Amino acid sequence: MKKRKIGIGFGTWAWGNKLVWGYEAETDDILLKKTFFDAIDRGLDLVDSADSYGTGSLFGQGEKLIGDFLEELPKRKLKKITIATKLAPFPWRIGRNGLNKAFQESNQRLQGKMTRVQLHWSTFRYAPWQEEQLLNGLGDLYEKGLIKEIGLSNTGPKRLNFLYQKMKDRGIKINSIQVQLSLLTKPSLEDENIKNICDENEIEYLAYSPLGLGILTIPPNKYPKPKTFLRQKLFQRILPKTIELRTLIANISKKYSASQAQVALNWVRSHGAKPIVGIRTPFQAKDASSALNWSLTKSEKESLDFYRKKCIANMPQNPFTSP
Ligand SMILES: NC(=O)c1ccc[n+]([C@@H]2O[C@H](COP(=O)([O-])OP(=O)(O)OC[C@H]3O[C@@H](n4cnc5c(N)ncnc54)[C@H](OP(=O)(O)O)[C@@H]3O)[C@@H](O)[C@H]2O)c1
Repeated sequence: MKKRKIGIGFGTWAWGNKLVWGYEAETDDILLKKTFFDAIDRGLDLVDSADSYGTGSLFGQGEKLIGDFLEELPKRKLKKITIATKLAPFPWRIGRNGLNKAFQESNQRLQGKMTRVQLHWSTFRYAPWQEEQLLNGLGDLYEKGLIKEIGLSNTGPKRLNFLYQKMKDRGIKINSIQVQLSLLTKPSLEDENIKNICDENEIEYLAYSPLGLGILTIPPNKYPKPKTFLRQKLFQRILPKTIELRTLIANISKKYSASQAQVALNWVRSHGAKPIVGIRTPFQAKDASSALNWSLTKSEKESLDFYRKKCIANMPQNPFTSP
């Protein structure tokens, strides 16, 4: 079983910087490049992207950036990290070969260095027949030796179990599952069930948006205004209702001379999941990696669990997440 470290998410880069605010080349990319190399040097060992990060003329921009950075990464470092992307099961990508073209294009953008391909979300709620076919198609790519690992995303425990067994019958392993998990996601028995399935079958349990898009890093007495409209609305709704939770996070962070981000990441790790954190600056890369130097005590974890349950504001869930 792989050690649960921390993964780097490049999704929000493509969203926040490139899509909503327009693509600002050069300076942005230089900062992102430094962030990327710093993160890898500091032990973050999984890179997560998606073909849908960036839309319109920016389609695939997240992967393209990563591909360019990877070209400059020495082979000995490349060998130590997992390069994962997610392919979107858009309604027009149907049938067993429905993701083949998308796979080829993503792999090209990632300069042939992709190690894991993940199905971005479950189609179970609106096109249940499609999911198994698309996954079988990814299995074909695996059997042809074009991909080393397969992962799922936004899949609930019932479907995870079902799809895991189906692929196992074919002699193919599901390597990972990513779901939204943070102190701001609504507590549910499903999380426990997913964790148990992962433990039993050695599936990597990945937690996306572990900082609640950054809300958990905000001190309890602060009300910053994010740049994008969607985040402004989210922060307005959630910040006033999370003061108790963020006060506890702040108190724990002071005890360890750590940041609130580190507390949020270590809470995820204390639940047996590996956080994929969205980082944009070298400081954030350093901060995330510092979480690997310490752990929460049992009573700190339990107090955070308690205030998480008590919290009445939660992050919106991906509507496609299957049972
Ligand atoms: N499978 C899926 O459907 C799915 C969905 C969403 C995300 N993901 C993956 O998960 C990754 C991470 O999720 P996310 O970016 O949505 O959310 P996140 O990791 O919870 O939050 C990222 C935001 O937190 C802030 N931040 C990061 N490090 C910080 C630090 N040390 N101190 C203070 N603030 C910090 C940054 O905000 P500022 O920009 O304000 O600095 C950043 O944009 C994505 O990049 C993507 O790879 C997957």
